[in-house]
Amino acid sequence: MPERPVILTGFMGSGKSSVGRLLAQSLGCPLVDLDAVIVETAGKSINAIFAEEGEPAFRALESACLERALAGGRAVVATGGGVVIAEANRQLMARHGIVINLMASLPRVLERLAGATDRPLYAGQDEAERVGALMAEREQFYCVADIRIDTDGKSVEDVAAEILRFLKGLEP
Ligand code: S3P
Repeated sequence: MPERPVILTGFMGSGKSSVGRLLAQSLGCPLVDLDAVIVETAGKSINAIFAEEGEPAFRALESACLERALAGGRAVVATGGGVVIAEANRQLMARHGIVINLMASLPRVLERLAGATDRPLYAGQDEAERVGALMAEREQFYCVADIRIDTDGKSVEDVAAEILRFLKGLEP
């Protein structure tokens, strides 16, 4: 297990939380699910934060929680899909952690998110179009990672095993 936090980035529905859970278990370290930390800190759901305070307030809270999570040492940190938008977050992650980007195709993402009501940037009209545009817009940020893993057609176990192999390869 590396001393630096292992950070999972990727679009909504790319499997960050489920892969993170298994990875943390395998590495014997805590899992920090950033969305859950944000909800706990704010005392309300992500939907409520977006609706009552707006996206900028959510992003500010997300950055503060990320900073705290990365200061905590050994951990697997599963981020929210939009954490990569802010340059300060990207720098923080590159400096303090090992960044692992989980990739998923648009059809796979739409399949995984179908019916979700807890993601304000997904729910609503014309999901496929909006999600596709958002994915394309963020690609420039997701591609900056220590490793990218294509998750299409792979189980959570497959993806976690691939990450573990990569981390093993980093050992001196
Ligand atoms: C967001 C992704 C969500 C959550 C929020 C915003 C985004 O996290 O942080 O709804 O901007 O892509 P997941 O990627 O865990 O769904």
